Amino acid sequence: MNVLVVGGAGYIGSHAALALKRHGYEPVIYDNLGAGHAVLAQGFELIVGDISDAGKLAPILGRVDAVMHFAAHAYVGESVINPRKYFQNNVLDGVTLLNAVLDSKVRKFIFSSSCAVYGVPAKVPMTEDLPRVPVNPYGVTKLIFEQALEAYGPAYGLGYMNLRYFNAAGADESGTIGEMHTPETHLIPSAFEAIRGQRPALEVFGDKYPTPDGTCVRDYIHVTDLAEAHVLALEYLAGGISQAVNLGTGHGHSVREILSAIKRVTGREVPSRMAPPRAGDPPELVADPTRAEHLLHWKAKRSLDEIVATAWKWDERMRMAKK
Ligand code: UFG
Repeated sequence: MNVLVVGGAGYIGSHAALALKRHGYEPVIYDNLGAGHAVLAQGFELIVGDISDAGKLAPILGRVDAVMHFAAHAYVGESVINPRKYFQNNVLDGVTLLNAVLDSKVRKFIFSSSCAVYGVPAKVPMTEDLPRVPVNPYGVTKLIFEQALEAYGPAYGLGYMNLRYFNAAGADESGTIGEMHTPETHLIPSAFEAIRGQRPALEVFGDKYPTPDGTCVRDYIHVTDLAEAHVLALEYLAGGISQAVNLGTGHGHSVREILSAIKRVTGREVPSRMAPPRAGDPPELVADPTRAEHLLHWKAKRSLDEIVATAWKWDERMRMAKK
C-alpha cells in the first residue's frame, strides 16, 4: 500500500514514514521543507511541494491509497504572536489538502492532532470525550481541522483518525533521524543545549503549580511508539469507525523529573534556573490511553529513560555532523 506522508520531512512525520516502511508499506513524502529537513527524508521518495498546491497534489494522490497529514506549524507561543500564520497553514491550506484528497480516490486520512485541543483539562488522566476548549490559537487550528474531518467523514465517506498526541520526545533507535527544530523550545533538546553550553541554563517555567514538586507535569511519549500507532490506525481504518484517539503513555513526569532522568541517563547535570511560568501552560496533561489500547491494540512500549537515551544519541550525532 502506498501512503502519502505529508510533512514527512519533519520530526514526527519522518518517524511515521520509517514505521510504515518497516511494516511493509511504501511511503511517499510530500513536504515544502519550510520546517522539515531533506536529511530526515533520506531513503524515501521526497516530493517538495506545499499543501496549498492542489495542482501538484492531484497526480500524487492518484498513486497512493492513504494520507497521513503532519504538515502543520506547532509552536504554541508563536501561534499567539502570529495567529495568521497558523490559521493560513493549519486551517486554510490544510483544507486545500483535504479537498484535494476528496477529489482523488483516497478515502483514508490520518490527522496529526494534539492534546492542545482540550486546553486546560476538566480531569486528568484525559479521555477523548473531555470538552475541547483550546487555550491558544495553535490548539484552535487543530480543533478546527478535527471538526472539518468530523463533517467530511460522514458526508463524503472519508475514513479518518484524529490522533491526539501528548508530548512527543526521543528519537529513532537507529540514530538516523530525530528532532531538528529551529529555534528549539522543547524541554529535552533545550536541556541538552544547556548541557552543551549553547544556552546559559535551562529555564524551568514555574515551580508553583499544583503538582507534587510544583513544576508542570506532561505525558512524554517516545516518537517511535507514536509512529507505530499511526500504522495501526491505518490498519484500523480498513473497517473501523472514524474517531479521535489519545496517544500517550498514561504516566506523567514533572520538569524536575525529566532533568533527573537526563542526569541519570547521560551522566551530565543540566544547568538550570527558575523562570516565570510560560503563558498558556496547563499544570498537568496526561493521557488516558485506554481507547488506543482497545481500538488499535497499541500501548507505549518505550520508557522515559529510552526517550532520553535515544534523544541524546541523536543529539550527539548531530553535533558530530556539524563539526
Ligand atoms: N519547559 C520548561 N523549560 C523549557 C521548555 C519547556 O520548563 O525550556 C516545560 C514547559 O513549561 C512544559 C514542559 O516543559 O511544562 C514541556 O514543554 P515542551 O515545550 O517540551 O512541550 P509542550 O508541552 O509545551 O508542547 C507540546 C507540543 C505542542 C503541543 C503541546 C500540547 O510540543 O505541539 O504539547 O500541550 F501543542
